[in-house]
Amino acid sequence: MKPMKPGPGLMKHFLQIKDLRAEEYTYLFERAKIIKTRFKNYERYQPLADRTLAMIFEKASTRTRVSFEAGMYQMGGSVVHLTTGDTHLGRAEPIEDTARVISRMVDLVMIRTYEQAKIELFAAHSRVPVINGLTNEYHPCQILADIFTFIEHRGSIQGKVVAWVGDGNNMANTWLQAAEVMGFEVHISTPSGYEVDPQVAGITDRSCYRVFDHPMAACEGAHLVTTDVWTSMGYEAENEERRKAFVDWCVDEEMMAVARPDALFMHCLPAHRGEEVTAEVIDGPQSVVWDEAENRMHVQKALMEYLLLGRIG
Ligand code: CP
Ligand code: NVA
Repeated sequence: MKPMKPGPGLMKHFLQIKDLRAEEYTYLFERAKIIKTRFKNYERYQPLADRTLAMIFEKASTRTRVSFEAGMYQMGGSVVHLTTGDTHLGRAEPIEDTARVISRMVDLVMIRTYEQAKIELFAAHSRVPVINGLTNEYHPCQILADIFTFIEHRGSIQGKVVAWVGDGNNMANTWLQAAEVMGFEVHISTPSGYEVDPQVAGITDRSCYRVFDHPMAACEGAHLVTTDVWTSMGYEAENEERRKAFVDWCVDEEMMAVARPDALFMHCLPAHRGEEVTAEVIDGPQSVVWDEAENRMHVQKALMEYLLLGRIG
């Protein structure tokens, strides 16, 4: 069967996890596996020849930039890399106008920015699919990679327990949405004042997560323990205050010991050893952080293929 061409009615954005349904994630993870295997076997696969991805970064990035850029070139396409400093976005050109212009010239846009409202506004005025490469509220591409990594190591995530230790931030919110859509449970422990807000997380089903005061309690019996930096990009002014508030929210060997014996450890990176995680854990046998980082590229290739070509076969 020929790949489905996108039409106006079929265009999808990927701005948060809820934008796709559970069965679409099942499909994406299957495609990511096929695409990864081809890559590992040095097989050329270029379904996005002549397609262009624009990447707009308003915050720093290592993994997101490299994974999207390398992934797009591997699929035969090309990439335009833009930052606030070298575009009119930093000089107050309206987002709506930028979206109208860029989306007439490229086939796909990836944006890393501050407020989710900005990416939503861009998408509302874009002729082409828009992908969230991280906002203050969500990081859906990272959670795609994390769940794909879990599946590779342990099989389906359905019914499993994911322990979140640390800030109620963009990663935590995205885990909650994923739990609601894909059917697993998040056990979350944050310092007081840094809790998740279910409204910001965009969830309606409160049964997909449980809150624990103590991080050890959140880790008990978990299939996966995960954390993130204490201070996310954009919140640097709060750094000192956060370092004090988060001191007991460091994932260490004691926390891993109360999780299941086969529990995995994940961190989206960049990590700060000795703050949110000890070196023993992140560099230890339960950690899959390097697979997790690599898988960003494979899942995003599957995502770009899906948003541009629809289901293959
Ligand atoms: N995990 C992640 O998104 O990394 P970067 O900030 O390096 O892109
Ligand atoms: N929560 C972090 C994730 C970095 C990939 C941040 O937003 O800075």
